[in-house]
Amino acid sequence: MARRALITGITGQDGSYLAEHLLEQGYEVWGLARGQANPRVSRMRKLLTEVRVVRGDLLDQGSLISAVERVQPDEVYNLGAISFVPMSWEQAELTAEVTGMGVLRMLEAIRVCSGVSRGVSPGAGGQIRFYQASSSEMFGQVSETPQNERTAFHPRSPYGVAKAYGHFLTQNYRESYGMFAVSGILFNHESPRRGAEFVTRKVSLGVARIKLGLAGELRLGNLEARRDWGYAGDYVKAMHLMLQAGRAEDYVIGTGRMKSVRELVEAAFSAAGLDWEQYVVTDQTLHRPAEVDLLCADPKKARVQLGWEPRVSFDELVAMMVEADLRLLADGGDPHDDSSWP
Ligand code: NAP
Ligand code: GDD
Repeated sequence: MARRALITGITGQDGSYLAEHLLEQGYEVWGLARGQANPRVSRMRKLLTEVRVVRGDLLDQGSLISAVERVQPDEVYNLGAISFVPMSWEQAELTAEVTGMGVLRMLEAIRVCSGVSRGVSPGAGGQIRFYQASSSEMFGQVSETPQNERTAFHPRSPYGVAKAYGHFLTQNYRESYGMFAVSGILFNHESPRRGAEFVTRKVSLGVARIKLGLAGELRLGNLEARRDWGYAGDYVKAMHLMLQAGRAEDYVIGTGRMKSVRELVEAAFSAAGLDWEQYVVTDQTLHRPAEVDLLCADPKKARVQLGWEPRVSFDELVAMMVEADLRLLADGGDPHDDSSWP
């Protein structure tokens, strides 16, 4: 019988790539989708025709228990979150509820459905394997570079704080109940399916608009921030590998190379044959109350223990995104319509 996976955050960037990867591996894939008429669900269904949908919301404990009871998954991937860092200052309580407490609710749903009770000895934690989408944002103001699985956390946003809660809770359920529960501490990963609010996609869309004569400038915030950017299609494979390992452990996933937003902009404009300095305008209102200045992964543990390595380079990623957005806009596509995802 096919193994069953339940993915929260199925309508997001990572949910789509992970679903494709698991379907290729022969899984029966279920996506948890929220809302009465969430337009992203019908769009997602056009791309991922084989994914089955179960209704549920990370804010609603009962719905998660029902979803686990119905799907009877072998593996649960908790990707659902409010994931845009600036929004976490505007809606800090909601971020804590979805991105932080949502992890507790999902773990509790698995615990209850597996019949694991308090006080049992570690190792008895049921058969469902759990993946938590932890984030390099937890490192925040970094204490060392590069960052590995032992680097201290100093989150700089309500989002980073909520992710740290989910991270420690996942460890705690592993230790308290013997559950196979792991966190992937993923660094920034991007693709042509990235939300338009994140800087890589904002830049690739901005370049495409300027190249096609649809815009005359691109407004950005802090150009000096540095990130370790990789390709989402590579990173979802690491999520799957973590749940196939012999032991439940946490892993850092990234490329080990940092680039600044300025370098990203230079690469993206040059991929379209444009000089960025003629078009980019910096805007103080786009700076954050507390910035994460740099993030750089040390992915050695994942390479050695999981055999995982990123395949797509930074330059290839930027070129892929710019080309995809040039094609999308030239064809009159809507960047906010996921049904046009490549
Ligand atoms: P994304 O595109 O923003 O997707 C977020 C998903 O969460 C969407 O499918 C959204 O569904 C869902 N969601 C929001 N509120 C929900 C709720 N109340 N109940 C259930 N689902 C809800 O994010 P992503 O880039 O794919 O990232 C996936 C996960 O990895 C996130 O947890 C993110 O924080 C984490 N992460 C991402 C990166 C990265 O660089 N991409 C790095 C580290 C960690 P709706 O359609 O309902 O809005
Ligand atoms: N979004 C955005 N828009 N960011 C800008 C802009 C702009 O106009 N101008 C400069 N930046 C800078 C931000 O200040 C930040 O330092 C950097 O670009 C990256 O911003 P985002 O692409 O929004 O990503 P993020 O690093 O804040 O968060 C992403 O990566 C995390 C992992 O480190 C998200 O995917 C999080 O969900 C994820 O956990």
